[in-house]
Amino acid sequence: MCPAIGHTLPHLATQEYISMTLVNRQFLLAARPHGMVKETDFELATSDVPSITEGQALVRTRYISLDPSMRGQMENRADYVAPIQIGDVMRARGVGEIVDSKSDALRIGALAWGAFGMQDYAVVNADAPQFRLLAEGEDPELALGVLGGTGLTAYFGMLQVGLPKAGDVVVVSGAAGATGSVAGQIAKIKGCTVFGMAGSDEKCAWLTELGFDGVVNYKTENVATALDTLCPNGMNIFFDNVGGEILDLCLDRLQLHSRVVLCGGISRYNATGELAGPKNYFNLIFRRSRMEGFLLHDYADQFPQAVREMRSWIDAGRLQSRTTVIEGFEKLPRALIKLFEGGNIGKMMVRTD
Ligand SMILES: NC(=O)c1ccc[n+]([C@@H]2O[C@H](COP(=O)([O-])OP(=O)(O)OC[C@H]3O[C@@H](n4cnc5c(N)ncnc54)[C@H](OP(=O)(O)O)[C@@H]3O)[C@@H](O)[C@H]2O)c1
Repeated sequence: MCPAIGHTLPHLATQEYISMTLVNRQFLLAARPHGMVKETDFELATSDVPSITEGQALVRTRYISLDPSMRGQMENRADYVAPIQIGDVMRARGVGEIVDSKSDALRIGALAWGAFGMQDYAVVNADAPQFRLLAEGEDPELALGVLGGTGLTAYFGMLQVGLPKAGDVVVVSGAAGATGSVAGQIAKIKGCTVFGMAGSDEKCAWLTELGFDGVVNYKTENVATALDTLCPNGMNIFFDNVGGEILDLCLDRLQLHSRVVLCGGISRYNATGELAGPKNYFNLIFRRSRMEGFLLHDYADQFPQAVREMRSWIDAGRLQSRTTVIEGFEKLPRALIKLFEGGNIGKMMVRTD
């Protein structure tokens, strides 16, 4: 749980008050990354606080989410979102407080989740895509993590692509991250045996606390041997956040009619040069199995129902989450790098000030 957000702005702040006294800090895309993201790929700039018109509200971001997909967007490699140009405000989801409003639906003082960008202030409409108002008293860290983009990704990827059945053997890569930790717990809720792979003993210990039936530290163990010990008959579902060698090893260990859920492939996001494809894909034929990618935003119309169900699991103590919160707006680029270095357990976010 996080501490309550302090209201550092007066709730009755007027547009005039805001524009006279405050500036809008923004991280702009300064360069397209080559290899690992660098702090110099971003430029810290300031601009005026934007004005709002009828039907709009002004949001002061309080938490900003760091997501691996930002890397592809910086390079304009993702064709499912509008391109980001050099000099644009870096795209990011966040939780913020409404500090001025010209909309009856957007009350000053309310907290909201949405795509506010790496900046202090954003203008929103009540019907903006991927926008929701938090319930009174709702924890903003939960809203950005397990009830936000990554938790929802785990929910739809596991339930609608993985199709878990009681008794299935499920393996999750990137299991101690924001998406993987939720995906594994959802499979447990559905009665599966779940094994997780993560990059440190501390992460593996947390997965065991969450109820995972077995764990592999892929950095210190031989993954092939560990998988053969944990699931000698192979797996029914592989929920993959990582790709590369780990995907290949799992493709080689599928039971009949398995589902390989392609959620992400973080091992390739900062790689340079030509990347090898999976060697063992032919096993999909031998095992009459399916490998399918998905994107969260295709499920946007089902978000409210998913949030309700996940909240009920949280309230019942069946779904737990963790956050890694870095303090300070100016740390945003560093926090993104830290995400790729494995420096997070659960959801990575920056608390702005
Ligand atoms: N399909 C969709 O709509 C969708 C939506 C959201 C996210 N995703 C994908 O879901 C995956 C997880 O995203 P997230 O936001 O939840 O991040 P996350 O898992 O919370 O954080 C990333 C983690 O990836 C691991 N990692 C980094 N480099 C790695 C490498 N080379 N090999 C193996 N593991 C590596 C690190 O953990 P370790 O210490 O364990 O290495 C790191 O903590 C990403 O692939 C992302 O692109 C997909």
